[in-house]
Amino acid sequence: MQRAGEFAESERPYNEVLQHYPSHPDALNFLGVLRIRQQRMDDAIVLIEAAVKEAPDYVDAHINLGNAYKLLGRLDDAQRCYERALELRPCLLDALLNLAVVLEADGRIAEARAMYRRLLAASPPRRSTLFNYDRFLRRNSMSMTDIEEALNCFTAIFRHEPGDGPARSELGLMLYLLERRDEAAAVYRDWLAHEPHHPVARHMLAAAGGAPAPGRADDAFIKSTFDSFAASFDEMLVDNLNYVPPQRLLERTAPFLGNPNGRLSMLDAGCGTGLCGPLFRPFAAEPVGVDLSAGMLYRADGRGYDRLEVAELSDFLASAEARWEAVLLADTLIYFGDLRELFGRVASALVDGGLFGCTLEALPDEEDRFELSMSGRFRHSRRHVDNALSLAGFVDACVDQASLRQEAGRPVPGWIVVARRRDRAVSVERMRMTSQASVCVP
Ligand SMILES: C[S@@+](CC[C@H](N)C(=O)[O-])C[C@H]1O[C@@H](n2cnc3c(N)ncnc32)[C@H](O)[C@@H]1O
Repeated sequence: MQRAGEFAESERPYNEVLQHYPSHPDALNFLGVLRIRQQRMDDAIVLIEAAVKEAPDYVDAHINLGNAYKLLGRLDDAQRCYERALELRPCLLDALLNLAVVLEADGRIAEARAMYRRLLAASPPRRSTLFNYDRFLRRNSMSMTDIEEALNCFTAIFRHEPGDGPARSELGLMLYLLERRDEAAAVYRDWLAHEPHHPVARHMLAAAGGAPAPGRADDAFIKSTFDSFAASFDEMLVDNLNYVPPQRLLERTAPFLGNPNGRLSMLDAGCGTGLCGPLFRPFAAEPVGVDLSAGMLYRADGRGYDRLEVAELSDFLASAEARWEAVLLADTLIYFGDLRELFGRVASALVDGGLFGCTLEALPDEEDRFELSMSGRFRHSRRHVDNALSLAGFVDACVDQASLRQEAGRPVPGWIVVARRRDRAVSVERMRMTSQASVCVP
């Protein structure tokens, strides 16, 4: 019942046992685990501490106690519990893995790595170990040797579970970081052979050059990717990869947003988990967030939006008649190829003089070009951005270059774009002259 999330029902039998045997270690331990799942950490600690007092060699209880401390951020206490569990059972994989996680969280990277090495020595290494180690490497040590090591981990998974989609996805990512395009394409082809319609495999095969690139990432790819990424998006990107598009967008747009008196009608298109919400809320009246991924939107709830809608953003924009005073797209257009049509839709959805802000990944090319890169994200050349802005009728455009996130320890260069929708009364001829000048407003 507890595993099925039926907390109230599962509590009753524990209480019954404890009524008759108040220091029954299992009842104390499992009720403690239930309290962890209910986010009642202090109660959990009292219960599980009572369990280990009664049964000092109760290894699982030491681990559960460590987990409760870890969730409370009491890393030293958590470490002590995992170490006690390891004294009792030196090769206990759960304890080693948890210890590695705590040491990393405490900034003790070399010790955490040593712990992972002990785990990897277990044969065959567990899938959870491999995934955790892969993430650890991506967060902490970005040499090519490290990535090779992570790659070997994932190759090992296939020996035991050839049909493991998430492991294929990680493997493809490693090969992308190592710029081994053909091998990445082979991984996605193989994945498609197992799951012929898998949207991620399809999109990534195109990204690796093994199939024609789509005009934009299709809806199924976006939903599948972000629904499964939603729970870890903030932690993975913001905490570990210096993800800053919302902040950069705020810095560049703030001078044009006026006083933060909550007056602007504002759309956050591709709002994701709502990282822009709290930043822009002071300027906005009833801000709206739109995203294809219901999983991402679920996390955006409570982050400053008056309305959140699951929708494809180009359809959503096409259905809105010139009503927004500001439209923002932070790190969303990296899933679109040719920007001309989309920029046109943004322009139509903005009132005259309305503000458009977006971030993009930069393609270093003098020509008007965009490409689907091996990462699965699109990159756009500066000229493509400028031309698409002009064509859509934006003026006072300002396009700055800045790093928007880290990848394999390297900054990912991007464009931060701010522009105004031209006044509809202005003649097309004048508009052309103004917009091609691409003035950068301070
Ligand atoms: C990298 S996330 C950025 C989220 C958010 N803007 C931020 O900066 O934290 C990209 C978001 O765009 C959404 N997205 C991509 N293509 C979309 C589309 N065609 N329609 C609606 N949402 C889309 C994804 O679901 C995802 O939530």
